[in-house]
Amino acid sequence: MIPRTLHFENNSLVILDQTELPLKQIELRLNTVDDVVDAIKKLKVRGAPAIGVAAAYGVALAAMNDPLSVSSAIDRLRASRPTAVNLFWALNRMEALLKSSAPTEKYLEEAMSIEDDDAEKCRRIGEYGSELLPSNAVVITHCNAGAMATAGIGTALAVIYKAVEKGKKIKVFVDETRPLLQGARITAWELVSSGIDATLITDNMAAAVMSRFKIDAVITGADRVAANGDAANKIGTFGLALAANFHKIPFYIAAPISTLDPNTPDGSAIKIEERSAEEVTEPFGKRIAPYGIKVFNPAFDVTPHHLIKALITDKGVFSADSLGVKSALND
Ligand code: MRU
Repeated sequence: MIPRTLHFENNSLVILDQTELPLKQIELRLNTVDDVVDAIKKLKVRGAPAIGVAAAYGVALAAMNDPLSVSSAIDRLRASRPTAVNLFWALNRMEALLKSSAPTEKYLEEAMSIEDDDAEKCRRIGEYGSELLPSNAVVITHCNAGAMATAGIGTALAVIYKAVEKGKKIKVFVDETRPLLQGARITAWELVSSGIDATLITDNMAAAVMSRFKIDAVITGADRVAANGDAANKIGTFGLALAANFHKIPFYIAAPISTLDPNTPDGSAIKIEERSAEEVTEPFGKRIAPYGIKVFNPAFDVTPHHLIKALITDKGVFSADSLGVKSALND
């Protein structure tokens, strides 16, 4: 049984520190908005939906600790990570309470409702997506779009969990996901813990795996889907989509409606987070590159919509184009 990535208990937001997975399962109690901002920046809580939920609880903590600090708490949380739109979506919901001068206890209720909604959305994504997989499917996934990245069973991994629950035999190739290894550390751990047939590969093996084995689908999550269907996700996703298209393998994005951003016209308008050079030169504290080398470390890339077969959302499966995004949002 996979533990919950976060929950609210005794006036604290309790998170499983994802930087320690899979070797240690350490719970952290976050009591202030500063604790939550720090946990989001350091990826102790990560994955687009999960950081949205954590940020909502960060606002609730600010409201409980000092109601006058709510506005600045929202600003600080907004500045914690730029790419995942779920963060801004959740903060906008919390800000609406401030604008309507809602009583303090409403903030915690709203954060809890955002958490519950997300869990339900994951379940629905799994239901819709699992119908797309044949009964002996082999799937490639990238990064971690599982239970650790959401308040529920995940997005891309929800599709796999639900397919297995329906009796389908699913095999998964897990990209390790350089530089922070969310695939090797977190997805691999989730799948092994769930008894799912999973094989770890390094990111640069994916095209070779597609050419040597029968692969039925590539499924990843997303941090933001623009109005035209372009999708930002963990760095390496674009290359995976290109390789999938070359091999005529359907490439799917699984994401809740809260990941669709009608205000961002296309992928070029998505702000891509750049992270520290040390994540590349000194992974997990071990220096591997010479001092003095320059580093480019974008955390995400954008997959153009024409490489995406469909968007698997909590409202159903939609085409990855302006029409599909519009109908998903209005459905
Ligand atoms: O930097 P991370 O680990 O937060 O990046 C996470 C991803 O790219 C996920 O694929 C995405 O947020 C979707 S999670 C359901």
